[in-house]
Amino acid sequence: MRLDKFLAESSVGRRKKVRTYIKEGMVKVNGDVVTEPAVEINESSDVIEYLGKVVTYTGKVYYMFNKPAGYITARKDKVHKTVFDFFNDVNMNGIFHVGRLDKDTEGLLLFTNDGEFEHQLMYPQKHVEKTYFFWALGSLDEEDRKQLEQGIYIGKGKILTKPAKIEVQKCGIYKEFKHEMPARNLHNIDSDQYNQPVVSGYLTISEGRKHQVKRMLKAVGCYVVYLKRVSIGGLLLDESLEKGQYRFLTEVEIQKLLLTI
Ligand code: URA
Repeated sequence: MRLDKFLAESSVGRRKKVRTYIKEGMVKVNGDVVTEPAVEINESSDVIEYLGKVVTYTGKVYYMFNKPAGYITARKDKVHKTVFDFFNDVNMNGIFHVGRLDKDTEGLLLFTNDGEFEHQLMYPQKHVEKTYFFWALGSLDEEDRKQLEQGIYIGKGKILTKPAKIEVQKCGIYKEFKHEMPARNLHNIDSDQYNQPVVSGYLTISEGRKHQVKRMLKAVGCYVVYLKRVSIGGLLLDESLEKGQYRFLTEVEIQKLLLTI
């Protein structure tokens, strides 16, 4: 195996970073500094050191995480708490999040040290479907649904969204559903708006434009007050994971995702 691959798959850093570490002389193979990232090593018999510490090969890792609202998808932030705050007891060097969820969005977020896997899932031409459950203020008639499905303009640019799937689950007025609707973002609803229409459902998209679900629904007059990603490709969020919990993906789940791409 190549030295840079070995280090990336041992949670030392992303492939690009570990190449720099190697070139800068921070890595030794069997006691000698090696500065060539492509050098072949034997992961079971060679002793690899990074900054003087022996590196143990972990292989590729894949985590499923149930993101709670209130955390930003980033490794570090000066102001806000981040999704990495939940992984305090594991070595997350070289492990990164696959795509992003907004601070107030909940649900399925993947982490891995496999750059190729991330690339395949996020590459726009692959059209990997992501499904989101939402509650929104507003209503969706047949024409709105048709627009969401066929493509809609969501920004200043002149690019239509790719075809999407919409499934309305519940629709009615706020006072009918207020006990089911997560309270987040609803503080600005007062009693004279209790007859305001609300709608919940699933929107499946195959792109990853910024705030895409919220912007698509806004374009048809709906204001999203709750959003949760429930699936990526053939992989469903494990609902037994509490918010903020994570677990390894099973071999079957990894295969399911790979079949998607
Ligand atoms: N679309 C959004 O609007 N927000 C997300 O977090 C993900 C998709």
